[in-house]
Amino acid sequence: MKLLGISGSLRAASLNTALARAAAEAFAPASFTLADLNLPLYDGDLEARGMPEVVLALNAAIRDADAIVIATPEYNAALSGVLKNALDWSSRVKPMPLTGKPVAILSAAAGKAGGQRAQMTLRHCLLAFDALVLPAPQVFVHASAFEDGRLTDETALKLVAQLMARLRSCGLSAACARAGAPLERGVILTERRPCPRPPSRRRRSSSPIRAVSTPRSS
Ligand SMILES: Cc1cc2nc3c(=O)[nH]c(=O)nc-3n(C[C@H](O)[C@H](O)[C@H](O)COP(=O)(O)O)c2cc1C
Repeated sequence: MKLLGISGSLRAASLNTALARAAAEAFAPASFTLADLNLPLYDGDLEARGMPEVVLALNAAIRDADAIVIATPEYNAALSGVLKNALDWSSRVKPMPLTGKPVAILSAAAGKAGGQRAQMTLRHCLLAFDALVLPAPQVFVHASAFEDGRLTDETALKLVAQLMARLRSCGLSAACARAGAPLERGVILTERRPCPRPPSRRRRSSSPIRAVSTPRSS
């Protein structure tokens, strides 16, 4: 499997990059790539002159990945501008490479909430992409959970492992669906069923249409 890590921080000693790496270790075995978010600021004029190579490379990496883990810092109660800029560039390619991709999100921050507000804003931004964003477990990591640039806190490591196990399942089923291959055991299978209609409250005997409630188990 191919896992792409996206860290919303460009700092060499970034806690979020360390968190993405810890997530990759929990996700293993997989080939892991860390995305380069050193992109120019989104500019429609620049785009009109041709998509920058780094943006093309980012989108190719997203398209190629079976699963994606995004670690965002919290800057003034929101996701980082670096990450938002990358998402904006990515949205300019059609079809958007993030669409339908299994995505897990994490955050590490100096504040005691561990970047909770950054994650909320990231989840909101990802709505525009129709990605398969895992809802839980929500993993907010305080800076004190790291030692010498590595995530060492036991509770945080356990939660990261739980989140990565889910991402792996989701990534496998998406990869199998793409390849038309049968699903492996233990993979989450989401079946699309039509929603049963609620029975109509008023009886209209003259109407040829009747509301029928479909039994759940069928
Ligand atoms: C501009 C700026 C704004 C910040 N705002 C917040 C904040 O709102 N909440 C918070 O918990 N930490 C905040 N921090 C601290 C970051 O959480 C901390 O620097 C973190 O380590 C950044 O992530 P990184 O290590 O991946 O670069 C802010 C830092 C910067 C530089």
